[in-house]
Amino acid sequence: MLLPTSDFAGLSAHWYRIADSLLAKTRVELWVYCPKTAEPMISGNKWMKLQYHIKLIQQQQYRGFVTFGGAFSNHLAACAAAAELFNIKATAYVRADTIDRQNPTLQFCLAKGMTLIATDRQTYRQREQADFLNMLALRHPDCLIIPEGGSSVLGASGIAGLNLTDTPAGPADVIATATASGGTLAGLITARSQQVHSNSSSEIIGLAVVNDPSLPVKVTALLKNNAAHPAPWRIVATAPDQRYAKCAAEHIDFCCEFALNHNIALEPVYTGRALCKLYQMIAAGEFAPGSRISFFHTGGLQGLAGLYYRQLINQQQYQILSAATVG
Ligand SMILES: Cc1ncc(COP(=O)(O)O)c(C=O)c1O
Repeated sequence: MLLPTSDFAGLSAHWYRIADSLLAKTRVELWVYCPKTAEPMISGNKWMKLQYHIKLIQQQQYRGFVTFGGAFSNHLAACAAAAELFNIKATAYVRADTIDRQNPTLQFCLAKGMTLIATDRQTYRQREQADFLNMLALRHPDCLIIPEGGSSVLGASGIAGLNLTDTPAGPADVIATATASGGTLAGLITARSQQVHSNSSSEIIGLAVVNDPSLPVKVTALLKNNAAHPAPWRIVATAPDQRYAKCAAEHIDFCCEFALNHNIALEPVYTGRALCKLYQMIAAGEFAPGSRISFFHTGGLQGLAGLYYRQLINQQQYQILSAATVG
């Protein structure tokens, strides 16, 4: 049975105000926005990016979708969970030489019925190329192709339905998010641009967790061109010399400290790495006293099990991060 996407119950969002000595000293107000759904794998930015893809699959009567991701991808876990919920077929091209059935993310995807196709790096690199996509469309004629990370115009449109501007204390001066494939940032820019009651000085910052020089072009391509008041935005590198998904001790420590101090769970690949950079910017005085910042908690906590599985975090760190109840 197909469920209409509007029947996907349990979508709610909570705001958390962070209080600590740095924020007090710099007089910067920081709010964390956490959207939740009934299915934890689709929390954060995941449901927002997937919802219009699912709707299109239902409308066009596709049997399912084909998508792409790394072996520990939050996007793949979310897609697998959504496919089971909406009773649609899911196929993923996974950047891996083999499908490791002990990998917690892939194990979850397989348990949800997703078909996983191990894809070598060279082939995987073609995932945005027209020839490759045409070949996939022929190979999977009954499936919608969802780009890596769900970052299509549809994905960005889903994010654009969020309101990260209006914190419980009033309008934010800065809206910040972790950025990888760009759909989340594009959606936030679109949302902000469409708000007629706009506080024109507010800015959207994408804290890039990947070293991808084409990211600004990708984000621009995903922006809806009907934005009434283009919102100012910029991309800030989180750690330029560090590769994506290779987590630094600095980011792991930041996540653990944050979990212990605020009971908010982060992971060091996306949200923790991004928030750590935001803290460095605050400490460097990049935001005027009195600024109010809204930070998007984009989820991704399923990734913690994969970090532990690869021994990139130790047991104590895994326990601290898993014990925090918010996020
Ligand atoms: C937890 C988490 N945060 C942030 C992002 C970045 O979002 P985007 O790929 O839309 O830039 C992702 C990737 O989807 C993610 O999994």
